[in-house]
Amino acid sequence: MAKQNQTLGEFIIEKQAEFKYSSGELSKLINAIRLAAKVVNHEVNKAGLVDILGTAGETNVQGEQQQKLDVLANDAFIRTLTNREIVCGIASEEEDTFISINSSDKNHQNKYVVLIDPLDGSSNIDVNVSVGTIFSIYRRVTPVGTPVTEEDFLQPGKNQVAAGYVIYGTSTMLVYTTGHGVNGFTLNPAIGTFYLSHPNMTYPENGRIYSINEGNYVHFPQGVKDYIKYCQAEEEDRPYTSRYIGSLVSDFHRNMIKGGIFIYPKSSKATDGKLRLLYECNPMAFLAEQANAKASDGFRRILDIEPTELHQRVPFFCGSKRMVEKAEAFMQR
Ligand code: AHG
Ligand code: MN
Ligand code: MN
Ligand code: MN
Repeated sequence: MAKQNQTLGEFIIEKQAEFKYSSGELSKLINAIRLAAKVVNHEVNKAGLVDILGTAGETNVQGEQQQKLDVLANDAFIRTLTNREIVCGIASEEEDTFISINSSDKNHQNKYVVLIDPLDGSSNIDVNVSVGTIFSIYRRVTPVGTPVTEEDFLQPGKNQVAAGYVIYGTSTMLVYTTGHGVNGFTLNPAIGTFYLSHPNMTYPENGRIYSINEGNYVHFPQGVKDYIKYCQAEEEDRPYTSRYIGSLVSDFHRNMIKGGIFIYPKSSKATDGKLRLLYECNPMAFLAEQANAKASDGFRRILDIEPTELHQRVPFFCGSKRMVEKAEAFMQR
């Protein structure tokens, strides 16, 4: 039973004992993410008032134009995690390679690596539509005391120890899991405190919302085209409702609350889809499974995929179990 008015800070302390390795390091790490989220929230809220809209003038490793807020959010998370000396490495959508962190007094003694999408839904910034941050946390696999290597980041999603997102929406929320269910916290902006507002979040088993960028229809594989037609057919409880924000965090959050499926398939233009396995799909897949939902690439469980590259892309089908299973059935025909 959720305690009334429980803050995220109190929740983290209370739950520390549940962690497999309860040295307090993971708690400190989630606390640092909480702090960075508040910093980014503050920036996002100012957008339009100060000069932080528009492009930063650089292209990132993904071949995308970086927005000023992409850069600001990236810096805020990296700065916070680096200054607090609690992780040994960070990988980010906005960085070509991973960053190895060696604090002066603790020669590579930290155990965790973090992968982040600092600002998800960049294309929504200039138009005042919800954006987010996604994070994924692993224990390193190489020995403590040595610099981190790429191997520490290229772990299958099932090895994640924690993952979550921040949604900068009509209200700002931090939603995360450490493998014991999913909990959501809403920021009271007047006092800068997150409160437990959504304890034990679960996806409805079935839903009536499908979320996909249908503008790419002609480029989709036949299975996806057929599934879209199925969603639109006038049968049983269909046609379903189409909702697509263009920010994975926001689309996922809505579907988790209302029931639905999110699909970013491969296409003839993007042969592996668009979304990045390590800091978009894996953390969302971990949250989905913890919320009794499902995530696959149409054929395989996302969390089982052995990554080969930091910025690897993967087709993504995620949401209410019954809907994902149905979509998979269309893919496998
Ligand atoms: P990001 O802004 O971090 O680069 O991610 C954008 C992603 C994701 O948030 C969203 O689901 C998808 O791109 C939207 O892509 P389309 O514009 O191709 O639909
Ligand atoms: Mn981007
Ligand atoms: Mn993203
Ligand atoms: Mn991003």
